[in-house]
Amino acid sequence: MTTGRAVVVGASHAGAQLSAQLRSSGWDGEVVLVGDEPYLPYHRPPMSKTYLADTVGIDDLLIRGTEFYDKQDIEVRRARVERIDRAEQRVVLTNGESVYYDRLALCTGARPVRLRIPGADLGGVYYLRTAEDVEAIRADVPGSKRAVIVGGGYIGLETAASLRKLGLSVNVVEAADRVLQRVTAPEVSDYFRRIHEAEGVHIRTGATVVGFEGDDDTDRVTGVRLADGETVPADFVIVGIGVRPNIELAHEAGLAVDDGIIVDAHGRTSDPHITAAGDCVAYHDERYGKTRLESVPSAGEQAKVAAATMCGKEATISALPWFWSDQYDLKLQIAGLNTGYDSVVLRGDPTSDREFACFYLRAGELIAADCVNRPQEFMFSKRVLTQGLPVDRDALADLDIPIASQLASVRNKATA
Ligand code: NAI
Repeated sequence: MTTGRAVVVGASHAGAQLSAQLRSSGWDGEVVLVGDEPYLPYHRPPMSKTYLADTVGIDDLLIRGTEFYDKQDIEVRRARVERIDRAEQRVVLTNGESVYYDRLALCTGARPVRLRIPGADLGGVYYLRTAEDVEAIRADVPGSKRAVIVGGGYIGLETAASLRKLGLSVNVVEAADRVLQRVTAPEVSDYFRRIHEAEGVHIRTGATVVGFEGDDDTDRVTGVRLADGETVPADFVIVGIGVRPNIELAHEAGLAVDDGIIVDAHGRTSDPHITAAGDCVAYHDERYGKTRLESVPSAGEQAKVAAATMCGKEATISALPWFWSDQYDLKLQIAGLNTGYDSVVLRGDPTSDREFACFYLRAGELIAADCVNRPQEFMFSKRVLTQGLPVDRDALADLDIPIASQLASVRNKATA
């Protein structure tokens, strides 16, 4: 089917890609993109970087401008979907209106995990996900000297780098015994800690936040109280302690969900009229098993696949997961997922060098790589992972053997 009405819920990265891709895949009928944010879909990665630093405006960050949606005849509706009525094939909006669909796509994304501790509602305690979140933080920056960041993950560290550049003193409070522990090996965590400390960021690990202290007159946060009794002074606080997928609409409509809206390899949910894509989706990855990815490239691919499926075309989610993070002059590029690795091989010395690669192996096979300012190692890893090529761990560690030549030699071995 390529006629009738396609409704896309969530003007996220996935939602924007999916609605555009519906047109490229041949959807001739109506396309309605419903989102509850005030802006057209925008790029989220700059939120913790250039948008926070106020060096770009939202118009610079739009995935596509108004003209595109007009030209492609994609109706963008600023509204919030309250529920899905699958029997009647319609979504019901919070304003009471309902919109019929022939095909529905859910791109509802994820939301920050919130701290439920005393003082959590004080002014100056922020989460960072949307442009509006960042605009509120930005308004606080000029009058502030001290920022405390709760969580030493991607949001925490990228934000720490941005705020240091703006001249603020920055404290990071991380509950685990190392930063980035969800996604990297200890060697990589130690590297990022070293770099941030050299940039003047104060990092506490193994630290539990038990409450926020505030000023009774202004109702604004003044400090972050830790379990060991210390209070870290703060003019504002940013909490980045992970996200949860927005699965409630799907769950309440009776679709299969667990840690995400479950889709098959074609982006189809348990209802054949409904697809889903992006951070909200859980699927079976052929390399890594059950997977839910919080990644822009994956959202784009899943959106393409779901759009093709909605148009009755054959498409399968198969791209290798990859991620990146920019902090200071460092570009961390991650190929694959390291879950279940049994050893790492370092190329370069993360205790002293600024650039290096960390290869994750399981039973001698490469499963993932973290590459800092090492684009060739990243490209190499993507190729090896995509093509299932063997690696030589001694050669990986040897900076005298160029990484590109290793690709040639593993290919020769594989074809010999
Ligand atoms: P995250 O999962 O990357 O990191 C959260 C950190 O908070 C972890 O280190 C965790 O141990 C810590 N934590 C959890 N509870 C805590 C507590 N009560 N007190 C102190 N620390 C605590 O999540 P993050 O950084 O919030 O990022 C949110 C999402 O945004 C993720 O999906 C991430 O992938 C995405 N993102 C991706 C970026 C990238 O790919 N470059 C950049 C920024 C965000």
